Amino acid sequence: MKRIGVFTSGGDAPGMNAGIRAVVRTAAGLGVEVVGIRRGYAGMIEGEFVPLGPRDVANIIQRGGTILLTARSKAFLSEEGRAKAAEKLAEAGIQGLVAVGGDGTFRGAERLIEEHRIPVVGIPGTIDNDLYGTDYTIGFDTAVNTALDAIDRIRDTAASHERVFFIEVMGRFAGFIALEVGIAGGAEVIALPEVPVSPQEIADTITESFKKGKRSSIIVVAEGAYPGGAQALFKAVHGLTGFEARVTVLGHIQRGGSPTAKDRVLASRLGAAATRTLIEGTSGVMIGEVEGEITLTPLHDAVSKKKPINLELVDLARSLAG
Ligand code: F6P
Repeated sequence: MKRIGVFTSGGDAPGMNAGIRAVVRTAAGLGVEVVGIRRGYAGMIEGEFVPLGPRDVANIIQRGGTILLTARSKAFLSEEGRAKAAEKLAEAGIQGLVAVGGDGTFRGAERLIEEHRIPVVGIPGTIDNDLYGTDYTIGFDTAVNTALDAIDRIRDTAASHERVFFIEVMGRFAGFIALEVGIAGGAEVIALPEVPVSPQEIADTITESFKKGKRSSIIVVAEGAYPGGAQALFKAVHGLTGFEARVTVLGHIQRGGSPTAKDRVLASRLGAAATRTLIEGTSGVMIGEVEGEITLTPLHDAVSKKKPINLELVDLARSLAG
């Protein structure tokens, strides 16, 4: 391969820039040129390409977001859109791709490989940590620490006012962020899509905790744990008990900020390994890290197999909430 492309797609995640830097510098070390594709698949269709050399990725390892911009492209969902993208890649002499993103990104990559024989290797970039084949995704650790900082602050005011707070965290259909910040933030209840908890159970837990002398509570709610999220869950609990509470939706602050050391190292490692794997001739895989080792997982498995939540941590959270 003489020239490869790199792009970020789907929701941005802190550490994506560290991944781009690793791709560019690893490829340069192997004598391969890199082209940055702006705005994910949307930019691929429009031919928004920029040459990236080692100096172009200086000073980005610490920056949140993605210098290449990102998008969720509707046009790429159609065969025509993908054919146009393939044409633009061929015109620019791009012979393979490193795709940084989540499940939507990898589904798109599978189509490009099947329909146009363009080699693609993925690296997992999403705060949700919901990809099979890697212990952690790039951005998850930073998002957890950002959410945790917010929860610690909310706990101060919750304790001062003797209040209950329902705090909604991101994660789409997965509860990885909620479980981690719930434990680290000492939540009384953690509501996860994988382990549903009913309004009645939450009401009982709050009642019990007040009987034990607690005067404030933090309920962490994964956005996918209850239809309508934390606000609707609070309303349901309020309907049962009349409890007063405040609801905070942390939202997109979880996607921003400078990546943690852990995310920078993970992104550097995965970006470098993905580039080598692609250049050596392998396609259709996601590079992950499992128990500290670099692993290759078919893109199809990465998006179709369900990554299990750690039930031991769910039990731990319950046992420590008392
Ligand atoms: O996949 C990352 C994520 O932040 C999810 O946690 C969340 O559900 C979604 O993206 C939000 O998407 P958008 O930025 O398009 O509102």
